[in-house]
Amino acid sequence: MMNLLCIIVISLTLAGSAYCEMTSPSTIITVKAELGGNVTLPCKLLSYDSFFFGNVGLRVKWVKVADDESSSEDVLSSMAFHRRTYGRFEDRVFLRDPDSDNDASIVIEDVSVEDTGKYLCEIISGEEDMVQEIILEVESGLTMGVVFPYSPRGGRYNLNFTGAVEACAKQDAEIASYDQLYEAWQDGLDWCNAGWLSDGTVQYPITIPREACGGSNSGPGVRNYGRRDKRTSRFDVFCFASEVKGHIYWLVQPERLTFYEAVQACLDDNAEIAKVGQMYSAWKLQGYDRCDAGWLADGSVRYPISRPRKNCSPTEAAVRFIGFTDKNQKSYGVYCFKADE
Ligand SMILES: *[C@@H]1O[C@H](CO)[C@@H](O)[C@H](O)[C@H]1NC(C)=O
Ligand SMILES: *[C@@H]1O[C@H](CO)[C@@H](O)[C@H](O)[C@H]1NC(C)=O
Repeated sequence: MMNLLCIIVISLTLAGSAYCEMTSPSTIITVKAELGGNVTLPCKLLSYDSFFFGNVGLRVKWVKVADDESSSEDVLSSMAFHRRTYGRFEDRVFLRDPDSDNDASIVIEDVSVEDTGKYLCEIISGEEDMVQEIILEVESGLTMGVVFPYSPRGGRYNLNFTGAVEACAKQDAEIASYDQLYEAWQDGLDWCNAGWLSDGTVQYPITIPREACGGSNSGPGVRNYGRRDKRTSRFDVFCFASEVKGHIYWLVQPERLTFYEAVQACLDDNAEIAKVGQMYSAWKLQGYDRCDAGWLADGSVRYPISRPRKNCSPTEAAVRFIGFTDKNQKSYGVYCFKADE
């Protein structure tokens, strides 16, 4: 067997797909794909005697292996002229070159974050069998943003779908997609209230399974209530805030303010009172940390902690939520936001 070297990290552009031509079966190949793009997972026999095997074709089996290797999911199988794709891979996966004598590479279309993980390609071709391991990494661009759960004044489960879209927009954010929520869940987001997503489904992310949040028997995951009536159903929402074009700051003031004074104080400073999405964005993407409770534009009081410490969110980095308190109470400071010129 030849020992071949190849570049094993392959970047995929949206416009097309790149792949590694020659693969040694003992090498684990890592392929990167962009969300929503197409990607080729390479798998190729190195030496093949086409005279001997003629046009019988390859026997190929592709499976996706669970992270803990406890189970696997069929992706595609091919034998002579019989070809099958399975489950959520149906109609989305095909052999790159179905007539080839030695190439069992597949193309996955419309890549989603759930496609992330380890794949095994098994080629059976008489004397030479081969198993190739491929890791697919999907980049969703979430590094450029943050997902946060949101419910407005008035409490939990008050938003129909339109209200949910508007609620996020008012916080300088947009309603999150399923893929964004999924990646936030992988990143550790745990939230026990269900919220709307952009596809009209209602879901919530659980990293620590417990009785009150969909049961303690099911494993961690994004729990799905499915598609709900956009007009009559009411839930919270998951919003997605991208990187802010400006900066958020704590306005130093001699005394505590009512909500109305807070709004005015930022205006007097040639800024405006900060929105919740801006707060989350600064906290997550810029490590904004301040242990002072301040008013935000929606009338809520919050503060951002990225370095957990005693008396300031001791156990986790978070945007702490004090609540939607009485707007006339002179109890808090204010966070202002100044957009980039
Ligand atoms: C993926 O491939 C399909 C079929 O070849 C094509 O229609 C689609 O535009 C491709 N998508 C991207 C993002 O390149
Ligand atoms: C959604 O809720 C808002 C506010 O509660 C309400 O004004 C609006 O009519 C509702 N939309 C639909 C389509 O029912």
